[in-house]
Amino acid sequence: MRIAVFDAHRFEREYFERANHVHGHELVYFDARLTSATAELAHGSPCACCFVNDRLDADAIATLAHGTTRLIALRSAGYNNVDVEAADRHGLTVVRVPEYSPHAVAEHTVALVLALDRKIHRAHARVREGNFSLDGLVGFDLYGKTVGLIGTGKIGSAAAAIFRGFGCIVLAHDLVPDLDLVRRHGVRYVPLAELYAKSDIVSLHVPLTPATRHIIDANALDRMKPGVMLVNTSRGALVDSRALIDGLKSGRIGNAGLDVYEEEAGVFFQDLSDQVIQDDVLARLLTFPNVLITAHQAFLTREALTGIAEVTLENVSAFEHGRTLVNRVSAPARAPTPA
Ligand code: NAI
Repeated sequence: MRIAVFDAHRFEREYFERANHVHGHELVYFDARLTSATAELAHGSPCACCFVNDRLDADAIATLAHGTTRLIALRSAGYNNVDVEAADRHGLTVVRVPEYSPHAVAEHTVALVLALDRKIHRAHARVREGNFSLDGLVGFDLYGKTVGLIGTGKIGSAAAAIFRGFGCIVLAHDLVPDLDLVRRHGVRYVPLAELYAKSDIVSLHVPLTPATRHIIDANALDRMKPGVMLVNTSRGALVDSRALIDGLKSGRIGNAGLDVYEEEAGVFFQDLSDQVIQDDVLARLLTFPNVLITAHQAFLTREALTGIAEVTLENVSAFEHGRTLVNRVSAPARAPTPA
C-alpha cells in the first residue's frame, strides 16, 4: 500500500525502511506536518501516516477523505491531535501504536529529574568554559524523597519502579489504581491534594483529554510543596505554561523538566537555531536556569523506534488484508483513553 508519511524525520526513516522489508509498502516521505493546508499531499495514497504534531482536525480529515485516503496510521500512542469523530463520519479508519517501550519515556523522565537535581546541564556548560567551581551546583539525594506520579499506566508504572529503586516514596493518582504497583512496589494512591502537598517531585503521565487539559494550573501549583520539581513528559497542554512561569518567577516551583510544551507544534523537531524564537512563553521558559527542556524526545530510543515502525506497518498491512485491527481508535474515544 502507498503510505504518505507526514512530518517524516531522518531519525526514523531507517527504522521504517528496515521494518518495511516484510511488508513491501511504498513509503513516500514528506517533511511537512499534516494540516488542512498540506493534507492534499496524501492524494494518491490510501494511507496517511502521522505523528504527534500533525493536526488532523475536521478540515484536514475532509481533505484526506476527498482524495484516496482510507486509513490514518498514527505512529504514536497519543491521538489527542485527531478528530476521531470526523474520521468516523468520513469513513476513515484510525490506527495507532498503543505501546512502544514505556521504558524509553520513563527513563527520560528520570534523566530529566537527575539532570535538574544535580544541575548536570549547568555543570557541563561550566566545565566546557574552564569554570570548575561548584558554587550553585548543590543538589539533593533522591533517596527518601517523595515522588508524586499523576497517571500510572504503562509509562507511569515503569517510572514508579525506577523511583522505588532509588529509595523514593512513591505516591500516585489515577482514575484506575494499579493494585500490582501497590503490592509489588509499595506505591500509595492518594487524592491529588495530598499528592501535591507531599511530593518533592511531581511527574505527569496521564493522556491529554478535556479532563486533563491544564490539570497543572495556578491553583494546582499553589498547592504543591514550595521548591517542588515538576516534570512533564506526557503532553504539553497538561500544564498551563504561563502559570508555570509565574511559579518559577516566585520561586515556588524549584525546577521544571519539560519534554513537551503546549505550543510545540511547528517548533519541536525543527532546527530553528538561526531564527528568532517567536513564542514569548517558550522563550521565557528557556531563560530559567532551573528549567530543562527537551524537544519531545522521551520516546527516542532504538527500541522504541523499532517498535513504532513495526507496529505502524503491521497496522497498515492488517487494514490492507482485512485482518482484525487490534490497534484501532474509534469514536467516541474521549476520556479516559490515552491521548
Ligand atoms: P496509558 O494509557 O498506559 O496510561 C495513562 C493512565 O492515565 C491510565 O492509567 C489512565 O487511567 C490514567 N488517566 C487517564 N485520564 C486520567 C485522569 N483524568 N485522571 C487520572 N488518571 C487518568 O498511557 P501511557 O502509555 O502510560 O502514556 C501516557 C502518556 O504519555 C500518553 O498519553 C502520551 O500523551 C505520553 N507519551 C509521551 C511520549 C514522549 O515521547 N514524550 C511518548 C509516548 C507517550
